[in-house]
Amino acid sequence: MNHDDFTSQAAADFLDRFGRAADGVWSAPGRVNLIGEHTDYNEGFVLPFAIDRRTWAAVGLRDDNTARVTSTFSEDEVEVELAQVSPEILDGWSAYPLGIAWALGENGIDLAGQAGFDVHISSDVPVGAGLSSSAAIECAVAIALDERWQLELDRPTLARVGQLAENKAVGAPTGIMDQSASLLGRRDSAVFLDCRSLRSEIVDLGFQAAGLEIVIIDTKVSHAHATGGYAARRASCEAGAAALGVESLRDVGVADLDRAREVMDDETFRRVRHIVTENARVLATVRALRESGPLAIGEILDASHVSMRDDFEISVPELDLAVVAARAAGAIGARMTGGGFGGAAIALTPSHLVAEVTSQVAAAFAEAGYRAPEIFTVTPSDGAKREL
Ligand code: GLA
Repeated sequence: MNHDDFTSQAAADFLDRFGRAADGVWSAPGRVNLIGEHTDYNEGFVLPFAIDRRTWAAVGLRDDNTARVTSTFSEDEVEVELAQVSPEILDGWSAYPLGIAWALGENGIDLAGQAGFDVHISSDVPVGAGLSSSAAIECAVAIALDERWQLELDRPTLARVGQLAENKAVGAPTGIMDQSASLLGRRDSAVFLDCRSLRSEIVDLGFQAAGLEIVIIDTKVSHAHATGGYAARRASCEAGAAALGVESLRDVGVADLDRAREVMDDETFRRVRHIVTENARVLATVRALRESGPLAIGEILDASHVSMRDDFEISVPELDLAVVAARAAGAIGARMTGGGFGGAAIALTPSHLVAEVTSQVAAAFAEAGYRAPEIFTVTPSDGAKREL
């Protein structure tokens, strides 16, 4: 289905489920992070872009204070009173859309005084691939409620609302990157975000003009950010910052690494070194894109992967193989993307070699006895918007 069909289908499904027409349909994209991994919650730099895979939210306000959500992911209809919505009563997929209503309440919106709403959600962002299908739901609902409730919140504020929903209603201790990419993305461009000030700049990617494509290799290895490794990495970063007497690792530069090595254990030091060098790599990537174009960023992507594999230790054998096989088949740079422990790798690939990369990566997975990966290309696209 093309995206216009998704929009009309969302409106038709809303009518079908709720027996009346929606007020409108809003959509928000998933994202790929080009570079800057685990730097967001360290108040550092990230460079993600919105992709051409989106989530649609058909929304209609109600006369009472009830919120009802339905989706194409499940038969369930979940219903709550807005005045009563809280993280404690939310679970499953409906925690994403309803968590947004709760998080708006935490931002000073009087939920008891707002009109309730019905929302129907559909998506073509693959779930569990590390492409932020969750942020896409949050951001589609956030812009819809912002418009229908006439809140006029700016997009960095809506990103914070999405992050709060994710952290408290869903329970994943993630940073601000995914929601920012989904809300601020621009066609053919990346969002260069300073996660301390939340100031952002749009950076031209120029992939098409350079004859390049981004190939996604979804390893199908599942990752769950609510538990385990992600939170442990976050704790290591906080311990490293505390050992250095700084508020966050944003305040540590490459020149401070010698001192860092002396005041913490080796594992914490390697976690810190990843963040510090990754921030430098984001800045180097932005500079290279501006001065020379995307053909100049391959080696930086490779270095980022090595740092995540060896220092931050968030890669898995399937992601490492995806990167090595894609490079061997002609990609000019490759790295895992997203939180890690599974999910997807990206390979910046000359257009004429996309088929070669696809078949060689698939062959390498088969030979290693790994589950077949899903391999496809994505295009840097516009952020969240009203569709209908
Ligand atoms: C996940 C989180 C983001 C970010 C990345 C790692 O995608 O949701 O906030 O921390 O991992 O860069």
